[in-house]
Amino acid sequence: DTSLPLHGQSVLVTAGGTRERLDPVRYLTNNSSGKMGYALATAARKLGAKVTLISAPTALPQPAGVAYVAVDSAATMRTALLARYADAQMVIMAAAVADFRSPTVAANKIKKTATDYQLTLTKNPDILAELGQQKHHQFLIGFAAETQNLLTYAQQKLTSKHADMIVANDVSSPQVGFDHDTNAVTILQSNQAPQQLPLASKEVIAQQILQVALATRKLQA
Ligand code: PMT
Repeated sequence: DTSLPLHGQSVLVTAGGTRERLDPVRYLTNNSSGKMGYALATAARKLGAKVTLISAPTALPQPAGVAYVAVDSAATMRTALLARYADAQMVIMAAAVADFRSPTVAANKIKKTATDYQLTLTKNPDILAELGQQKHHQFLIGFAAETQNLLTYAQQKLTSKHADMIVANDVSSPQVGFDHDTNAVTILQSNQAPQQLPLASKEVIAQQILQVALATRKLQA
């Protein structure tokens, strides 16, 4: 349907919490269920986009009508994004990407020790910041999950990562963020007043995020 606002456009969506391996049976991860990213993938498809969902492991069924790329660690998510970035019109980073990983992955199960076990972590690349640095035509949407100073930290992410939009969720608020079926967010964009989207299903929040993004892109064009 050529009348749809994202007709024929390539949209990349990331979802889920990355897994950073420690050994063959253990990894570091977070509480992301993938629900927000999957809802965004479905909403973008309904607006006519060619959607690629780059997903860390989740318990969710693959959404219909979208290309699906399974990843696990931040490193594999980064590779999948960079390979598709040049051809994308819009990128939505809803995944909860680990900031740290273990510098080595043990080949065998780490054995219990008699004393405490020290874990040293290495910094992961900031994928959103990297995409922001390489941005040309893409409309780049990041998220910010915060438990304090929501708008201050989200504003810093908007600027430092060169995103076109940051979707900020206060994940300490009831029914908001990780694993819930609902979310409430504030959308930050440069040169625009923050826009609050009150508590609603992740499906509704996803549609609203895309409406705001499309309205901004129209202004920029
Ligand atoms: O999956 P759900 O259970 O539905 O929960 C949804 C959600 C809470 C995971 C989602 O709404 C959300 O906020 N996603 C971003 C979580 C996150 O990692 O936030 P952050 O503030 O740590 O990161 C900021 C942005 O940078 C994010 O777009 C993130 O994808 C990106 N990032 C972070 C770290 C990193 N090394 N590389 C990145 O690209």
